[in-house]
Amino acid sequence: VADPIKMRRIVKTGAIVVADHATQAEWYQQAAAAEGVMVDILVDCDVGDHRTGAGSTEQVLEIAQTIGRSPNLRLRGLQAYSVLGSHAGGRPERERVSREVFERAAAIRDAMSRGGFSTEILTGGSTGTWEIDTLVPALTELQAGSYVFMDMAYRREGLDFKPALTVLATVVSANHQAFVTVDGGFKAFSTDRGYGPEASHLISGEPLAGTKYRWGGDEFGYVDLESTGHKLKLGDRIEFIPPHCDPTANLYDRIYACRGEHVEAVWPLKRQIL
Ligand SMILES: Cc1ncc(COP(=O)(O)O)c(C=O)c1O
Repeated sequence: VADPIKMRRIVKTGAIVVADHATQAEWYQQAAAAEGVMVDILVDCDVGDHRTGAGSTEQVLEIAQTIGRSPNLRLRGLQAYSVLGSHAGGRPERERVSREVFERAAAIRDAMSRGGFSTEILTGGSTGTWEIDTLVPALTELQAGSYVFMDMAYRREGLDFKPALTVLATVVSANHQAFVTVDGGFKAFSTDRGYGPEASHLISGEPLAGTKYRWGGDEFGYVDLESTGHKLKLGDRIEFIPPHCDPTANLYDRIYACRGEHVEAVWPLKRQIL
């Protein structure tokens, strides 16, 4: 976050914030002072992604010093998150990326420690590397998010958490033997992964193994049935596992939390928290 107005909102929440530049730490100090609060803060380190993060140990120490001089900030440690590791493609590759990430992170942590700075938190990792990173002694917090919902991307990585998030679509045309048309297309599922969703099962629970989804446009998709033995009819309701959970959830205003056939709760989604 690099907007003083947003920072004033964040510091009021009690969340731990991150900074990858001394100026950002100064802005957090100003926001915290203006709101009259103490804020826990981590130094965000670039451990290989080059997305965010301080690029060198020297920069990390400079940020730590700035935080040390800030009366409303409390330095708690460092963030070493790598999105590259989460979907690196197969466990050996994920292990390789993770090893490099935490070698870098441990070296930075040791330098912070030698400088007299707090390193009680070293946070990083993801759903994709949970089995690997939880064995890393340096890690104090795993940043797993997607495991709550799961999605096809992580299933393709071989993770076996049960999918909890599905998108319900309806068969709106069933005039062909080989396929049916459903009312779920680009507007219903994330499109960033290059592949469509998986038709998992009918709302009755009957699995739809072997079927294949094809994009059919903004509002439509096809479910290919050929040689699967499945027969779908007009009005059938299908639960789809989305390609990628985060940008799919972002398309909706609410989630229906179901147990069996019963809707137990309706959770509103706040898409613009900041
Ligand atoms: C900084 C950070 N931490 C944790 C996560 C969660 O990763 P996953 O959903 O792959 O578990 C993300 C995902 O976007 C992230 O950007």
